[in-house]
Amino acid sequence: MIYLDHAATSWPKPPEVIEAVQQALQGQMASPGRGNHGMALQAGRTIMKARIQLAKLLDVKNTSDIMFSSNTTSALNLAIKGILKPGDHVIATMVEHNSVRRPLEFLKRTIGIEVSYMELSTEGELSLENFQKTFQSNTRLVVCSHSSNLLGSILPISELARIAHLNGALILIDAAQTAGAYPIRIHEDKLDMVAFPGHKSLLGPQGTGALVLSPEIDLVPLLHGGTGSQSEELEQPNVRPDRYEAGTPNTPGIAGLLAGTSYVMNIGVNNIYQHEWALTQHIMQGLLDIPNISVLGPGLGAERTGIVAFNVKGRDAAEIAFHLDRNYQIAVRAGYHCSPLAHKTASTLSIGAVRASVGYSSTKEDADILIRAIQEMYKA
Ligand SMILES: Cc1ncc(COP(=O)(O)O)c(C=O)c1O
Repeated sequence: MIYLDHAATSWPKPPEVIEAVQQALQGQMASPGRGNHGMALQAGRTIMKARIQLAKLLDVKNTSDIMFSSNTTSALNLAIKGILKPGDHVIATMVEHNSVRRPLEFLKRTIGIEVSYMELSTEGELSLENFQKTFQSNTRLVVCSHSSNLLGSILPISELARIAHLNGALILIDAAQTAGAYPIRIHEDKLDMVAFPGHKSLLGPQGTGALVLSPEIDLVPLLHGGTGSQSEELEQPNVRPDRYEAGTPNTPGIAGLLAGTSYVMNIGVNNIYQHEWALTQHIMQGLLDIPNISVLGPGLGAERTGIVAFNVKGRDAAEIAFHLDRNYQIAVRAGYHCSPLAHKTASTLSIGAVRASVGYSSTKEDADILIRAIQEMYKA
């Protein structure tokens, strides 16, 4: 199988990740933060090590500002539903994933927030001048996808954070496509909230993710329940991360995420980015040499994450993905990628697209096999 669906979830996971999950399941790990026996403490130490490693990678000053979640979606829901109040205005962009858009639209219907989706160019570029003009006196939050999961375009989040703060708003970054694949400096760039998955470029297991939350922000918790701390209180504890981590955590998953994060740090995020970028350029060049193929997002030579979405004129995206799977054992994803707004931006709302996405384990040979398959299927 040639796996080119890393934007959905990374595969294969490094052997260290599989070993760490297995050890957590087989070894002496009980429920962390619950009880003082050796097995509970061992689990607690593993979870703490994962927080420390993630804090180093993402430039987070305080490990207790990292709240584990089950994926990016749950971290985004915690941030969005925990901060917004009736009458607040939110600025989002026209490439948001449904994990941002649906919670926003839900709050629009139920408590009456206002949302502006900023137009981007077809390549996914944002005009800072337009951004500045979108603020209102009641703008409470800017939410944006660091990299579009359709276009692969990357937004200048440091600059967006600066402008948001000048306008009295907070910023929430959806780092689903960048954590582990593109540098993120949370403290340096003053990012108030960052939601990210453990199961994509951090190479951890599915069922892992986190929200990094500035110490200055208090959110209404999404979940209320047991934390192993202050059990006599009726209220959710104020202490972090317990306040936002009700229920037994996914200890084996977080052990795997620790191993994945360490693997990424050993290679270096910049090296991972360079490797994936070079592969995207190779795929783009190969596809663009075939007649009737259009590639979405930034042009050749521009920054992008490991995503190349494309269409073959007159062919159905789902049919292309089906043939790649059945006849060439190549896994890609067709359709709307949970991001109809991004398809509107790319003018592909009526047809969708095929998305090939690479990871650190992808090779030039994988890219060549994809290009040859498309050549064979659609040569004029
Ligand atoms: C930009 C973006 N945001 C959010 C998500 C949702 O991530 P998760 O599946 O970890 O909830 C994805 C997943 O593909 C994504 O690409």
